[in-house]
Amino acid sequence: MNYHVSKTILGENPKFDFPKPIFLEELKEEGLVKLFSDFYDLIIDSDIGNFFPQEEDELEKIKAHNVKFFIEAAGGPKDYSQAVGHFDMLKTHEQFSITEKARREWLGCMEEVLRKTDISDEAKQSFWDFLEVFSKHTVNVDEKQELEDLVVKKG
Ligand code: HEM
Repeated sequence: MNYHVSKTILGENPKFDFPKPIFLEELKEEGLVKLFSDFYDLIIDSDIGNFFPQEEDELEKIKAHNVKFFIEAAGGPKDYSQAVGHFDMLKTHEQFSITEKARREWLGCMEEVLRKTDISDEAKQSFWDFLEVFSKHTVNVDEKQELEDLVVKKG
């Protein structure tokens, strides 16, 4: 298993493949629900926890909603796009300032839960490879630029 993370180049729009069917076949929807429940429990205690709601019932709603996206991406029912009306992660994340560092923290939490997930390496690798590239589409802030803006603002 290779949890390699390559660098995002802003504006690059890299092509990605959705996970192979064996991922959902092996893990099943119930497995994905458990995986994302564990993932969001890690996320709220991580360096990007401030982006997410800390209240238990709000977090439960997010878990139940967001996992539908991943089930659909893995080839399952299209409940996410039916509920939301689109499948556009760029649009979804526009309202947040996401840096490469935040992306790596997100992927780090995912690596931690995937390491504890009992499916074949082939299935896991195909999910990881999808997330590794797909997550580049959520990065919308140049870290260096953000720091420079802060310095300018401070005077
Ligand atoms: C592969 C990468 C990612 C995927 C597939 C993904 C997917 C999603 C989805 C499906 C939602 C729910 C949107 C809706 O309301 O319908 C969401 C929301 C959100 N995402 Fe991401 N995301 C990714 C990476 C990130 C990263 C790196 C951050 C960094 C902070 C982030 C922060 C958020 C936040 C703050 C929300 C709103 C709260 C929530 O509904 O979870 N996401 N994301």
